[in-house]
Amino acid sequence: MSDNGNDGIFDIDTLNDIGPATKSSLKEAGFRSIKDLVIRGPIDIAEATGIAMEKCTFLCNRARELLEDIGVFDKPFITANQLYEKRKSEYRITTGSKNLDELLGGGIETRAITELYGEFGTGKSQICHTLCLTVQEAEDKHNISRALYVDTENTFRPERIASIASARKIDPKHVLENVIVAKAYNSSHQEVIIQESANIINLHNIKIMIVDSIVSHYRAEFLGRSFLSERQQRINRLLHILLRIAETCKIAVVITNQIQSSPDAIFGDPNKATGGNVMAHTSTYRIYLKKAGKNRIARMVDSPYHSEREILFTINEQGIGDPQK
Ligand SMILES: Nc1ncnc2c1ncn2[C@@H]1O[C@H](COP(=O)(O)OP(=O)(O)O)[C@@H](O)[C@H]1O
Ligand SMILES: [Mg+2]
Repeated sequence: MSDNGNDGIFDIDTLNDIGPATKSSLKEAGFRSIKDLVIRGPIDIAEATGIAMEKCTFLCNRARELLEDIGVFDKPFITANQLYEKRKSEYRITTGSKNLDELLGGGIETRAITELYGEFGTGKSQICHTLCLTVQEAEDKHNISRALYVDTENTFRPERIASIASARKIDPKHVLENVIVAKAYNSSHQEVIIQESANIINLHNIKIMIVDSIVSHYRAEFLGRSFLSERQQRINRLLHILLRIAETCKIAVVITNQIQSSPDAIFGDPNKATGGNVMAHTSTYRIYLKKAGKNRIARMVDSPYHSEREILFTINEQGIGDPQK
């Protein structure tokens, strides 16, 4: 049984504990696979379908059990050693810079969210563009790993990917064929794109999903204190969907974030990532980017197992790389 969203096992119809009316409500609301149920979670399902909350919770639990049975999720209560072995074998995506890979413990981790934040021009989008190529360097040549790029700031440039490919002596046309782009025009559109991405991810063997940037539409649309709580709630919900996509589809999720100046900072750097605690609590890894002359500094700010450390990288013809010694 392969882990593919189109296989019968993942179809809503394979849930045999629910009736036809519930199934059609789910399908009408756009839920196609049992992975969709786990990714969206009971509150979202109840809201989208009108099905009672209790039933939605039951559905999500059943869906999760089925995914555990076929190995998509770990069964609860495994030893830390089993988990350790499993994590070692999990796939990482190189960034193009050895220093940055090392900072990340070997590259961008799958089944996690990596957040890149920093001022304008610090290289967030350049890292994202480079990842669109490096993800394709997977060992399995018959099943190419692709990238999904959600562009919210209108800064995605296929030309840049083509020139990085040429500099790396790879056929630009072939590389661009394996990058799927979704332009989000406003925050609601961004939410729809992300909610519906699981099917695209399975269908096209996406191994990295990039959201560049996660917050710009929210910052532009939810102005003022009175909208702050709604804004945070919506970002929070979106981030949790992204985290479940990363886990369920076994892919890497990379998000970029802006910074805001915090005038009350007396010591140190006054720049903080936007999105507040919601963002800080959901991202698995947070990397702060700063300019340093011609180079860039990347600092691991928050990680479940890395210490706070910084390295230098550079932006060049090949995307990103290491400064020359
Ligand atoms: N081909 C290139 N070679 C070297 N530097 C580049 C190239 N293309 C863009 N840059 C540099 O990348 C920086 C912009 O980075 P970007 O990732 O767009 O910033 P942001 O953090 O705002 O997303 C600029 O300083 C620009 O000079
Ligand atoms: Mg950018």
